Amino acid sequence: MKYSTIHVEASRSYDIVIGRGILAELGGLMRPLLGDCRLAVLTDSNVDALYGTIIMEHLQHAGYKACKYVIPAGEASKCAESLLSFLNFMAGEQLTRSDAVVAFGGGVVGDLGGLSASLYLRGVKYVQVPTTLLAAVDSSVGGKTAIDIPAGKNLVGSFYQPSLVCCDTALMDTLPKEIYRDGCAEVIKYGVILDSELYKKLHTLPFDREAVVARCVEIKRDVVQQDEFDNGIRGLLNFGHTFGHAIEKLSNFGISHGEAVAKGMVIAARIAPLCGLCDIADELSALLAEYGFDITSPYSAEEIYNALLTDKKRRGGTISVVLPHSVGDCTLVPLPVEELKDLLQKVI
Ligand code: GLY
Repeated sequence: MKYSTIHVEASRSYDIVIGRGILAELGGLMRPLLGDCRLAVLTDSNVDALYGTIIMEHLQHAGYKACKYVIPAGEASKCAESLLSFLNFMAGEQLTRSDAVVAFGGGVVGDLGGLSASLYLRGVKYVQVPTTLLAAVDSSVGGKTAIDIPAGKNLVGSFYQPSLVCCDTALMDTLPKEIYRDGCAEVIKYGVILDSELYKKLHTLPFDREAVVARCVEIKRDVVQQDEFDNGIRGLLNFGHTFGHAIEKLSNFGISHGEAVAKGMVIAARIAPLCGLCDIADELSALLAEYGFDITSPYSAEEIYNALLTDKKRRGGTISVVLPHSVGDCTLVPLPVEELKDLLQKVI
């Protein structure tokens, strides 16, 4: 079988291995990294129903003793209660410092599994096995871990790099259309921020999943290697996210992350020419429409502005927004919040 391996040099260096059917190789890939340890597999109820038995069989065939903890599918599980329950589960199973966590699922499982691994016994190793396109190209790469608290999404977390990411693209065959499309918004984002060739290829649908996931992961790897702790260029990965997060929040998370990011990217693209940068809004909107995204904003400029004021990336009176120079070349522009209000009123 043909796999791609992308190496990440960070505070912990690791490989991201991508390929169809690679789940069967997971145990073999982990062996040189983790040795002969016990594994706590964290997954959610949807993934468990489809692939829970298969992953446990693969791990057992590879000689691993593994226990499994299943959380209800959905963002509501990314909370302090689930974190404590999973930590208690690991303690009950008497996992030790040489044991490891396998996060088998989408972004919720990956973020919760990573945070649990960073906390349990002050840190055990963990492996990400993403099952959604969104997790494969974004949350499983780069070591951001988090839970949500009542004050907001992702407000508690750590930077904690995995020991391995094993991405079996065949697992995405069973994803509902809308969930797969969520990941497509992030894929399009990578094209706009850093790769015009990728962007061109995305006009041919369906795209070559393995190649596209590998290219997005490479782009994210290059960014994370330069700015692991998110103090500079990593902010480019937030193209569409500043406005997208505001829209998600206003909808009480009824609008999915990908849909909100699609709307957010169009708002950012419309703001760019007002800041003297180029205008890619029409062509970006057309590409997003090809993927079935509704790019209209259901909220007024004022509503979005008010939601932005609580953005966790705000620094004093300024919010950095990612704006395109052209497709494949974006820049972080710090904008005073008052100016942002005027700009939003002009484009929405
Ligand atoms: N999802 C953006 C980042 O990892 O920095």
